[in-house]
Amino acid sequence: MQAVTLESTTNPTPQTTQRYAKCIEVSKRIRWDIDRDVIRGRQFDFEKKFLPDGLSKVTELPFLQPAEARFLSQIQGRTYANIFGLVERYIGAKTLEISKDYWLGDQVALEALVRFTEEELKHQELFRRLERMAAAGMPTGYSFQPQPNDVANAVLSKSTWAVLGLTLDIELFTQAHYRSSIESDTNLSDLWKDVFLFHWKEESQHAILDELEWRREDARLTEAERDQGVDDLIGLVAAVDGIVQMQAAADADYFLQRAGRSFSSAEATSIHDVMLKAYRWQYIVTGVQEPRFGEVLQALVNPAQMERIGKALAPILAHAG
Ligand SMILES: [Fe+2]
Ligand SMILES: [Fe+2]
Repeated sequence: MQAVTLESTTNPTPQTTQRYAKCIEVSKRIRWDIDRDVIRGRQFDFEKKFLPDGLSKVTELPFLQPAEARFLSQIQGRTYANIFGLVERYIGAKTLEISKDYWLGDQVALEALVRFTEEELKHQELFRRLERMAAAGMPTGYSFQPQPNDVANAVLSKSTWAVLGLTLDIELFTQAHYRSSIESDTNLSDLWKDVFLFHWKEESQHAILDELEWRREDARLTEAERDQGVDDLIGLVAAVDGIVQMQAAADADYFLQRAGRSFSSAEATSIHDVMLKAYRWQYIVTGVQEPRFGEVLQALVNPAQMERIGKALAPILAHAG
């Protein structure tokens, strides 16, 4: 008679289980609380910039006065909070969904993904707090157009392979953003520096888990399914680009209305242009350019698929940074 075994549904290798276990260990060690560690009773100092120049690209607008450049970075910081609140809605839902494969299987991987999901719920709460704090000190007229649930539904309708690829891009770019925030700049908000620091601490584990899950998903796809995944990933990047185009236009208009003086039409065009470049840089290119992203992608797709992705990204890369 065949012995009944409690075999995992996913047959993880010991090395893979070890990587999930390491993520749990680090997640427990660095775990932070929104009030106790990040906000600590502080409000935003509106005499300081919210985003570092390396992300906001304000130095590409030399005609702005220092207070205007600061206001522009504050608008971008507010949008940063809203964009993360948005993407973390779908990321949390997707992580919960893929954790289903481990419910009765690898309990280490399950715990890692449950912690990941719980951290994303906490991050959404942090970013909602930051949006309210930013709103309290900024002139009226700001609007954030995309709705988190509409975007989440659109993203989650795509193949898991593509969703995990986009998620790895996002979670890797938080690391690049943290590096930008620690460049020496005494005019950068201390509270915002802490947001980048604490977010990065937890996102580092998320990026490792994204990679493990993306590879696991990839291993069970047929060639045709992977090819569809590549098309879906290209579609998702285009959708993100659509969102940043819309928000960059809204934020540039808000700046022009509230900056307190008029600008020439050439200057207004530059403000619109740099806002879009900055958002493409922040929300697409900083992740795609992380070496890890290229390494993983290269390992999963064939040269023709890589070329298709490269072609789709080319216009965005050409107009960012
Ligand atoms: Fe997050
Ligand atoms: Fe994350």
